[in-house]
Amino acid sequence: MPADAPGPGPETLNKVLWKIPNVLCLIGSRAGDEWNGMTQSWVTQVSMEPVLVAISVDAKAVTNRLIREGGSFSVNLWPRTDTRPFVKFSKPATKDGMTLNGRPVREGVTGVPVFTEAAAFLECTVWKIVECGTHDVFFGEVVDAGFGADDDPEVARMEDTRMKYGGVKRGGH
Ligand SMILES: Cc1cc2nc3c(=O)[nH]c(=O)nc-3n(C[C@H](O)[C@H](O)[C@H](O)COP(=O)(O)O)c2cc1C
Repeated sequence: MPADAPGPGPETLNKVLWKIPNVLCLIGSRAGDEWNGMTQSWVTQVSMEPVLVAISVDAKAVTNRLIREGGSFSVNLWPRTDTRPFVKFSKPATKDGMTLNGRPVREGVTGVPVFTEAAAFLECTVWKIVECGTHDVFFGEVVDAGFGADDDPEVARMEDTRMKYGGVKRGGH
């Protein structure tokens, strides 16, 4: 909604939008030698046939460029007991050998990084991209999926942290 439109103010909008429950996970992306992992909360399934998952990624994020160039991404659901990586992965990650920010990764079937510590993962090839204001929605067709050590894990959610994402745009988005 435009900033000068009548209706709820930004504080109310934020409070309501932040009530939407979201997962908290890491998106793996790669174009050639450039690999990244990024903290992500806007993730949802959007189709059963084909099985499609949508992620909405800031148009300015490194991850956005890497997914466009590489044509695929991984969604790494994280163990609920370990929310530590999410702050560090909100900036471009450092690759050292087969680690990103010190977290081990393997090469998935599409070549993107998949975190070996993930509680569960999905790997997707880009099916469609829709520009949505500040973000681009990447619709991904699921080409691989699996679990970590446990096949019924509890996964991290936004509510497990004191972090927030979304609401109305503030300066320096
Ligand atoms: C808790 C949390 C949730 C986030 N969720 C998203 C998200 O859903 N989409 C997004 O584009 N950025 C999200 N971000 C911001 C990104 O992690 C990151 O700061 C930014 O997009 C730059 O990523 P880059 O390393 O690919 O440049 C979130 C950040 C935090 C701390």
